[in-house]
Amino acid sequence: MNRSNHRPILAKISGVGHYMPEKVLTNHDLEKLVDTNDEWIVSRTGISERRIVADGEFTSHMSVNAINELLETTDTDVSEIDVIIVATVTPDRLFPSTACLVQEKIGAKNCWGFDLSAACSGFVFGLNTASRFVESGAYKKIIVVGVDTMSSIMNYKDRNTCILFGDGAGAVLVEPSEEEGFGIIDSLSSIDGSGAEHLYMPAGGSEKPASHETVDADEHYLHQDGKKVYIDAVRGMADISIKILEKNGLNGEDIDLFIPHQANKRIIDSTAKRLKIDSSKVVINIGSYGNTTAGTIPLGLYDAVQDGRLKKGYVTVLAAFGAGYTLGSTLLKWAY
Ligand code: COA
Repeated sequence: MNRSNHRPILAKISGVGHYMPEKVLTNHDLEKLVDTNDEWIVSRTGISERRIVADGEFTSHMSVNAINELLETTDTDVSEIDVIIVATVTPDRLFPSTACLVQEKIGAKNCWGFDLSAACSGFVFGLNTASRFVESGAYKKIIVVGVDTMSSIMNYKDRNTCILFGDGAGAVLVEPSEEEGFGIIDSLSSIDGSGAEHLYMPAGGSEKPASHETVDADEHYLHQDGKKVYIDAVRGMADISIKILEKNGLNGEDIDLFIPHQANKRIIDSTAKRLKIDSSKVVINIGSYGNTTAGTIPLGLYDAVQDGRLKKGYVTVLAAFGAGYTLGSTLLKWAY
């Protein structure tokens, strides 16, 4: 789904909110659950700790907290919101959508919305969709949330997966850009279903509804072929980043800030190397958050805004790779 560059209205991100649960799950905590150790996890993934929801916290709850911070910092009245897109693979319930639950909780009376299932690329797909909606002139204020409660589908007896993931939420406001050239310049989104069997949750859907057997077989947890996904992620995330740069006559040296999906620090380092982006221009927060799936990129944006690494006018690339497979990239000139 590539877009043309001839668009009268440009969309921009005008604010970022976030929510991280307070509870910290360290590598040392995991040493008590599975046969692993801090040294192995840090050296193979770059992760030291991740956040995990407490009782009573879940996907809509984290989304609402992130949105409330977003509305406050952007001085936006909730009645102005036209659309809510919730990117997640861990919705509160299979239906109704988490977007509906969030809409009710924040009291957004004048909007519609939907959930978007694209795993780790969910936020980028949501952002790319929202920018199209804004560019079309149909909507003026769209909230995109990237959120996942990965602990709800994590098998804390499986050392291959439980060390990688954490919980968290980030939300952005997308609206028309008033300043020429500032905002979302271009976006790419693509899917490759040949990867479906390498990273998935086997049961709980229509193919294999929940039963005693599926529960006993641990089929309601995330399953993955880590090695295969690693190789495909390194190639996929670099390819979709290079593609958006080349399409816009740019190369790695033109990028002021690169915010990739945070699945494994080694994947990020390899991607940055292939793009020839200096490591000082790469946002890496996987060490303290782990892989929060749809949450990683808005949380990266949030951290970069907070610590002053993301400044107005910065040429920024977002890149994601996830289950599906799904791949997405966004090229922005940061607008505030
Ligand atoms: N602690 C200690 N040892 C572990 C371990 C753990 N948590 N997990 C696996 N091991 C062991 C393996 O059993 C294996 O032992 P063996 O050689 O005796 O069989 C050894 O460590 C090496 O395992 P391997 O799978 O080769 O490690 P790796 O370097 O490929 O790292 C991942 C494993 C999962 C960290 C890595 O493959 C990865 O990050 N994959 C991509 C995951 C991902 O990004 N998913 C989301 C995509 S959006």
